[in-house]
Amino acid sequence: MQVILRQLGDCNIRRAEPSDLIPVMEINLKTLPEHYSDYFYESLLAEIPEAFIVAEIGGKHVGYIMCKTEYGFSNFKKLGFVKKGHVVSIAVLDEYRKKGIGKALVEESVNGVKLKKCDEFYLEVRCSNNDAVRLYEKLGFVIRQKLNAYYRDGEDAYLMAIELN
Ligand code: ACO
Ligand code: ZN
Repeated sequence: MQVILRQLGDCNIRRAEPSDLIPVMEINLKTLPEHYSDYFYESLLAEIPEAFIVAEIGGKHVGYIMCKTEYGFSNFKKLGFVKKGHVVSIAVLDEYRKKGIGKALVEESVNGVKLKKCDEFYLEVRCSNNDAVRLYEKLGFVIRQKLNAYYRDGEDAYLMAIELN
C-alpha cells in the first residue's frame, strides 16, 4: 500500500517500496558520484522504510532520500551514547530542483527517524556543495565537524547534525 506523506502541487512525496529502487538508483547515477550496490538499497529500505522516501510526478521519479540508523557517540553531548539517524543519500533531478522537493524529503525523513526514536540525525556533505549545505542549515542542521579527505577524490566533508526531541 502506498503511503503518501504529502503533496507539493503535482508532486507526491511518499514512502518507497521495493519497485521504487531501480528508479532511485537511476536518479543516484545521474546526480551523485557516490553509488551503492543493489543490496545496500534493499537493506536500507528493509531497515528503515519510514525514512526511505521518493518524490514522484505523474509516475516519474524525480527525487529520493534514504537513511539508516546507528548507535554511537553523540554529535552534541560530551560522552553521550545515542541512537542516530544518518542520511545516506538525497537527490532531486536537476530539472525539478528549487521547487521545495529537497526540503520536503528532508523534513519527511526527520519524521521517519523520529518514529524510530532517534535522538539525533546527521549526514556528510561536500564542503563545496553550497546548495545542499544551505538546505540543511535552513532545516536546523549545524556543521559539527570537518572530515578531511572524506571523499574518494580527496574532497573534505562537513558533518552536519540536528538534535531531535
Ligand atoms: N520557487 C523558487 N525557489 C524555491 C521554491 C519555489 N517554489 N521552493 C524552494 N525554492 C528554493 C529554496 O528556497 C532553496 O533556495 P536556496 O538554495 O537559495 O536556499 C532552493 O530552492 C533549494 O531548496 P529545495 O527546492 O527544497 O531543494 P531541491 O529540491 O532543489 O534539492 C538538493 C536540493 C537535493 C541538494 C539538490 O540540489 C540535489 O539533488 N543536488 C545534487 C545531489 C546532491 O548534492 N545531494 C546532496 C548530497 S549530500 C548527501 O546526500 C547526504
Ligand atoms: Zn554518511
